[in-house]
Order: sequence, then structure tokens, then C-alpha cells
Amino acid sequence: MTKILTLTAPTNMKLLADEIKNVGKDGGVLVIREGSRLFDKGHWAKFLSEECGLNLDTRQYNLSEKIEHAQWWEISYQPDKQTVYAHSNTRHPLHNDNSWFSDPAEINFFVMEKQASAGGEQSIYPLERLILDLGEDDPALLRDLQSVEVTIQKGDGEYFHKTPIIRMRPEPNIFWNYYRTIKSDPGIKRLCDAFFAYLEKRETSSSVEFIQCRSGDCLCFHDQKVLHGRTAFTASQPFERMLFQSMWKL
Ligand SMILES: [Fe+2]
Repeated sequence: MTKILTLTAPTNMKLLADEIKNVGKDGGVLVIREGSRLFDKGHWAKFLSEECGLNLDTRQYNLSEKIEHAQWWEISYQPDKQTVYAHSNTRHPLHNDNSWFSDPAEINFFVMEKQASAGGEQSIYPLERLILDLGEDDPALLRDLQSVEVTIQKGDGEYFHKTPIIRMRPEPNIFWNYYRTIKSDPGIKRLCDAFFAYLEKRETSSSVEFIQCRSGDCLCFHDQKVLHGRTAFTASQPFERMLFQSMWKL
């Protein structure tokens, strides 16, 4: 099963590189407590590239939904921009970050620059566990998620992804963003609504784990082998919670 491993600022860099590479292989989740004490963001990028053999994917959509290129992207509480999850303090439902790319980056690497005083945990639902749960609870929904093609798209359509939401070959991967899946077909709308409702229900079960990253911690996970989200958090001033994110291809 997907491993959720916590390391506290290890001094063995070979071990650290191996554990990050394992996230790419087994779809695990790695919490690196006090990772910011080891490296600053620039050094983390160098380590991920040179020691872990990952390739930076700079593509991200800005607030105008245009592709911009950067090494690190800021996810920060900014009340004047809180209509988007990246800048709100609301709960963010389970999703993947790169589902709209047909050639998505696999590895998501977060540096928690500043955690809120309360809340802001990452919710994590490993795909392996989700498939088992769906197989028991709702095999018909699982079958549709594996067979019905949907189109996931953001921005002007330069990039889009036509895929089943759960794709089993060549290996199990999930591509899920409720809001960015085109739902003009009533059958696809029903499928998306049913899956969204299922995930909302599962989030209160033991299948979904919650990881509290503290200021200075890092989090690394496989974007297509776990769904992730965030709980609501307390913030009254801009930038009371701030994390930086980078995306990497295997
Ligand atoms: Fe995300």
C-alpha cells in the first residue's frame, strides 16, 4: 500500500534522495519535517534535479488562466484574491494538480514557508485505497470512472487531457479536477457529481489521512497516485499561510 513516511531533516542525503525517488516509484507520500533547515528553495530545486534525477516542469496557470513558467509557485492567503483556492482560506476538496495536462508532471514538492495558526492540513487519499473502497462501496461508479472518457481543461485550450478519470494502464493513475472537467454532457455531469459526492463522504472516513505540515516542513507526493486537498484554516491577515510548490517529471 502507499507509504506515508515522515523524516525529520535527515543528515543522510543519499537516504533522502532514495526516499524521494521512491515517491516516484511507489506513489508514496513523504513528509520532510524541518526540510527548510536542510536547504533553501533554490538548493531544494538543485537537489531534486541533480540527486533525485527529476526534471522541473515549469508550466502553471496564473490567475488569468494563462500559462506562465516558474520554478516555484506561491500558494498564499490573500483575501483580495480569495475566489481561487490558491489564495483562499477555505477547504479545498480532493483533486490532482496536473490533471489538465496529457503529459503531467508526476511529482509535487511543497515547501511550507508559513503555516496558519490553526487548520490548513493536507488531506491525502491514496489511489490504491480509493480503488479498493470504490470496489466495495460502488463498483458501478468505479467501472464508469475507469471507462468513460472525460476532457479536463484549463485556460484557452492549449493544453487539455482526454482520459478516463481513473486510468489503469500502463499503471493506475487518477486525473481529477471536478471544476475543470467539461460537464456539458449530462452523463459526464452525473458521473462527476457522483464521484465528487463520494469523495466528500470518504473524507470523513479513515481512508483519508490528514497531514499537518508545520512552518519549514516539506511535502512530496505523486500527483497522479494520491488525491490531495486542504482543510480550512484561520487567517485574518494576508500571507498568514504561505507555501511554495514545484512540479517535477520522472
Ligand atoms: Fe493542489
